[in-house]
Amino acid sequence: MTRQGRKGHWEQVYSTRGETGVSWYQSEPALSLDLIRSVAPAAHGRIIDVGGGASVLVDRLLDLGFETVAVLDISRTALETARARLGRRSGAVRWIEADVTEVRDIGTFDIWHDRAVFHFLTEAADRARYAELARRTVLPGGHLIIATFADDGPRRCSDLDVCRYNPGSLASEFGNGFSLVGSAGETHTTPWGSQQAFTYGVFRRQ
Ligand SMILES: C[S@@+](CC[C@H](N)C(=O)[O-])C[C@H]1O[C@@H](n2cnc3c(N)ncnc32)[C@H](O)[C@@H]1O
Repeated sequence: MTRQGRKGHWEQVYSTRGETGVSWYQSEPALSLDLIRSVAPAAHGRIIDVGGGASVLVDRLLDLGFETVAVLDISRTALETARARLGRRSGAVRWIEADVTEVRDIGTFDIWHDRAVFHFLTEAADRARYAELARRTVLPGGHLIIATFADDGPRRCSDLDVCRYNPGSLASEFGNGFSLVGSAGETHTTPWGSQQAFTYGVFRRQ
């Protein structure tokens, strides 16, 4: 898929299915929040949700008092959905409309969170660009939390192929610059009741 095709795909998904009609919808991103709390710096620091879409994670991160909260996503429609939901609080968030495989510089953060974005990168060159951006962005001692479909998870999502991972195979993608310090599994139930196996990896920036 071309870069333009990728953006068009996601704009179409959010404009036709909305915030809660997508398979990945969660009313409470409980495991993400547990993992984020487990690595958050004492002074709460800076966090970015990469491919955050319209997720309510950003609402909860503002509640937790992070000094900087950013959301990056390729889809303007998704970001606008989250902004509208937050109303006046949306001014406290840095919104970045970009393709994670193309953007050069997004500043520095203590925590990079990604649920269900990295697994769409089926080309090695895209994965390498993603990992390079993560290395430039996450400060030494900071953390990367990545959730993907597990080895026994779906092979496709939103009409696109995905790559599936376990903590070990995720670690080989991020071995340069990050050490695996934790992992967890989760069974996600979609809004229409089917189950999807996810794996979460927690990495520390060396
Ligand atoms: C499966 S959804 C997950 C959304 C959110 N993380 C969640 O858990 O609700 C994948 C998200 O990644 C975004 N996305 C897909 N490819 C991207 C890319 N190359 N760069 C940035 N965002 C991307 C999509 O627009 C979509 O919001």
